[in-house]
Amino acid sequence: MNRAYRKTIIAGNWKMNKTPAETRALINELRPLIQRTKWCETVVCVPFVDLPNALKASRGCRISVGAQNLHFEPSGAFTGEVSAEMLSSLGIKYVIIGHSERRQYFGDTNEIVNKKVLAASAAGLRPILCVGESLTEREYDVTREVITTQLKMALQGIDAAAMKKIVIAYEPIWAIGTGKTATADQAQEICNLIRAFVRAKYGARVARAVSILYGGSMKGSNAAELLSKPDVDGGLIGGASLKAEDFAEIVHAANQ
Ligand code: 13P
Repeated sequence: MNRAYRKTIIAGNWKMNKTPAETRALINELRPLIQRTKWCETVVCVPFVDLPNALKASRGCRISVGAQNLHFEPSGAFTGEVSAEMLSSLGIKYVIIGHSERRQYFGDTNEIVNKKVLAASAAGLRPILCVGESLTEREYDVTREVITTQLKMALQGIDAAAMKKIVIAYEPIWAIGTGKTATADQAQEICNLIRAFVRAKYGARVARAVSILYGGSMKGSNAAELLSKPDVDGGLIGGASLKAEDFAEIVHAANQ
């Protein structure tokens, strides 16, 4: 973390969990636990149907709300999809784009991810852009190339003003939901590579301001070490974001 230049963010990715009623309950439980954490922005990215309750339950506290996906077209015959404007009109702030589960199960290619980042940015949403390598790619020692390609394609056509609003999350696929966390040094190496990419494309000022998160089995017991690295500005949390105390523990580690 480096708070002199950029925001520390702990974002929960609830994935396909929690009903609207459970959403209200979890946020109500979380609120008092993270009251004095002004150094860290807390975000919950919830399923579409939970967004209205998440917004209501988080009113008047430091929790921001995000979605987990969107469609890149503004409107039309795309059964089952949700547009950027539909999300921004609700008043939500963030949207996760390019999560590895979307890439793996729903065919989100780098090109589609790029279109989604452009659509979200144009609608005033802040994308949480996910990048990450598979275990095979790591074993073949092509992690840096994979991440660079993902960034190059996702950020095509994004100018510096839009880039300032984008949060990037490094999520090695082999660490997601596996209990296997990247070491703090592994996380730092790739978060540093991401910042160097942003610096080369947008300049030092933008690179210094962009928040880069780590995601993949982050929890209360390993958060502090990961967050002690200079280029790791927060976390994108799956499993541990579904229990108020577990999630709050991470937020407190980030608030130190
Ligand atoms: P876990 O924290 O459950 O490993 O999930 C990470 C993730 O995919 C967040 O987007």
